[in-house]
Amino acid sequence: RRFLQHLGRATLVTIVTTGGVFYYVTQKDRHPGPQLPFDPTKKNVVVLGSGWGATSFLKSVDTSDYNIIVVSPRNFFLFTPLLPSVAVGTLNPKSILQPIRYLTRHKERQVTVIEAEATAVDPIKKTVTFHDDSEVQGEVSATTVPFDYLIYAVGAETQTFGIPGVKEHACFMKEIQDAEIMKRRFMDCVESAGFPGQSETEIKRLLHMVVVGGGPTGIEVSGELHDFLEDDLKSWYPELSDNIKITLVEALPSVLPMFSKELINYTESTFKESKIDILTGTMVKEVKDKSVVLQMPDKTISEVPVGMVVWAGGNKPRNVTVDLMSKLPDAQKNKRGLSIDDHLRMAGADGTIFALGDCTFSSYAPTAQVASQQGAYLARVFSQIAKRDRIASEIATAQAENRDVTTLQKQLEKAEKLRPFHYSHQGSLAYIGSEKAIADLVVFNQKFATGGVATFLFWRSAYLSTLFSLRNRVLVANDWLKVKLFGRDLARE
Ligand code: FAD
Ligand code: NAI
Repeated sequence: RRFLQHLGRATLVTIVTTGGVFYYVTQKDRHPGPQLPFDPTKKNVVVLGSGWGATSFLKSVDTSDYNIIVVSPRNFFLFTPLLPSVAVGTLNPKSILQPIRYLTRHKERQVTVIEAEATAVDPIKKTVTFHDDSEVQGEVSATTVPFDYLIYAVGAETQTFGIPGVKEHACFMKEIQDAEIMKRRFMDCVESAGFPGQSETEIKRLLHMVVVGGGPTGIEVSGELHDFLEDDLKSWYPELSDNIKITLVEALPSVLPMFSKELINYTESTFKESKIDILTGTMVKEVKDKSVVLQMPDKTISEVPVGMVVWAGGNKPRNVTVDLMSKLPDAQKNKRGLSIDDHLRMAGADGTIFALGDCTFSSYAPTAQVASQQGAYLARVFSQIAKRDRIASEIATAQAENRDVTTLQKQLEKAEKLRPFHYSHQGSLAYIGSEKAIADLVVFNQKFATGGVATFLFWRSAYLSTLFSLRNRVLVANDWLKVKLFGRDLARE
């Protein structure tokens, strides 16, 4: 009995201590202290974007060295890897967002955050022009600010190749509102299919979901749609669920070209078991209101009735990026993104514009992993630049006072040597539905491929730990538990 009493007391002490620490950490995070004010003697750094690249830079940069202004049309960071889970209601949209001020208010020096869209960058005059394009605007909604350094991390937009009807009729999977639109659209198709008197053909059309693009986005969306169907819709819409059909269309001969062959085969066989049709070598030529036009592998054209089309056709540069490239035509010749050097300096600009992530065209894939490593690298570069500037100013003072500057010169030479960016690939992960994931991993410089339920658990724990904050981790874990207990929400908001 004494042992049980002791165990009970120990458990109680552990719970109370953990709860106390958790409460202390969250409250400390909620109430940031005062920050250093803007310092006119420091250099101004403008950061465009609040995505993977920009936030990784902001997390690590030492703000005591700079005045920083962040400009982004959304006032939050979006954890994109879990976006497809929002599209079927597994996760609440807010669980994977983190307001950018939750980060910037914890920096040593005050950081200005402006919700606006950059419309033009002048690489010669070193200015950025931006507009407030939100629903509510004040008397001033456009302005131009100068910069000493620009961190250009505006990401990319979805590539549609100008295919007719895509913008008008398809859903996308890039921003948080895309996932919300898709969820609404999907549930609308299901509810309309249940409308009394609907013909068999119309029910089949409404419940045919076509996902375009066999890259990781298209695969994950198809897998999540399948889970929604199996776990929830079969119980709540038994009269309709047999008619729900998911088709994945990919122009290339295989899906997921960036994964190893065995994982491609594993994904294809999992999709086959899940009754998700994969049409490879098939190109979408047009998206209409109620159908998609496909060019089949034998070049014949087929028009397929659909209720919803999700377009995941890859990336293309944003207009502001195309405009910026056009201002330095001799150095910026690649149409697929900004050309940068090994130190992430934009080619053709005089070392004052650094570009990273999906807006660039380099040897690296456009992934969160690359963008966040580049952001952390740039924060280190900026520390070194600040150090270099400090030594240079010390040299100037010493020379004015006729002091010996040999040691300082050596220090300056060292500080001027910037190491190039080096990417360390940690592997690729993707969710393929049915509580299975695939992973091409690199462990101790050895590559190995794995897929299945254990990989799914690894996928979940990997993303749970990489989420932006403790707050996000708690919210996401809570959503997963909620769905396990009560299923996904069917309400169409
Ligand atoms: P983003 O993260 O897209 O950020 C761009 C920022 O710029 C945004 O804040 C945006 O609001 C802002 N912006 C846009 N226009 C302007 C403007 N005119 N002025 C100022 N700011 C602007 N990668 C992985 O490595 N692993 C994954 O599992 C993974 N899953 C993904 C799942 C989905 C559904 C998607 C769509 C992508 C996924 N990716 C994944 C890819 C990854 O999200 C991108 O590579 C990453 O977001 C690139 O970071 P970025 O900072 O360049 O751009
Ligand atoms: P993607 O570029 O990887 O794939 C798009 C696919 O759409 C291509 O295979 C292309 O052939 C196909 N396509 C384009 N037009 C078509 C048409 N008209 N008809 C049929 N097929 C067409 O794009 P995705 O999946 O959006 O990924 C973008 C980037 O984000 C990639 O670098 C990817 O690695 C990364 N990402 C990574 C994830 C992960 O690691 N789990 C998840 C999602 C994205």
